[in-house]
Amino acid sequence: MHDLILVLKKDEIKKKTEIIAHEISSYYQDRELIVIGVLKGSFIFLSDLVRKLTIPVKVDFIRVCSYGYSDSSSESINLTKGIEIDVKNKDVLVIEDIVDTGLTLSWIVDYLKAFNPKTLRVCTLIDKIERRKATIKIDYAGHVAEKGFLVGYGLDYAEDYRGLPDIYHLKL
Ligand code: IMP
Ligand code: MG
Repeated sequence: MHDLILVLKKDEIKKKTEIIAHEISSYYQDRELIVIGVLKGSFIFLSDLVRKLTIPVKVDFIRVCSYGYSDSSSESINLTKGIEIDVKNKDVLVIEDIVDTGLTLSWIVDYLKAFNPKTLRVCTLIDKIERRKATIKIDYAGHVAEKGFLVGYGLDYAEDYRGLPDIYHLKL
């Protein structure tokens, strides 16, 4: 068992999710939005977020694996599940749990651009800025964190802690 330090309580996550959902609902009003969750980490955030949207939405998922393990973000990315909905000429919003170096998200953006969506925006629950390597525009971020390894509310450490309702800093 690791030392876990509380970073975001579930009530704060809820508030932040509501704010983002409101922004997204206004921005995409009268449009047909497809949200694409990045598995596995985004599954809880996405499910809470879509229930707060006041616009119709279609949901798809993508899964990428990075070589490396646990706390190390990847240099090398492998697609293990691609999109199943046709996004050509559609408004697409990628939903991430956390952006660290940005390499995963920038790979995903390139992958999705190849399907010629009408628009492509990015939403993450946590924008962790210290180790950013890729230049990437994040359109919606729930919470900005300087650094540290975070777990809970979908985020894992070697597949543990995803089910925690709050978000913690895990001391390695
Ligand atoms: P990036 O490519 O470095 O931006 O890393 C992106 C992916 O690494 C995220 O989608 C997470 O799956 C994982 N990751 C990065 N930082 C953390 C963290 O603090 N906790 C849990 N997973 C993380
Ligand atoms: Mg992720």
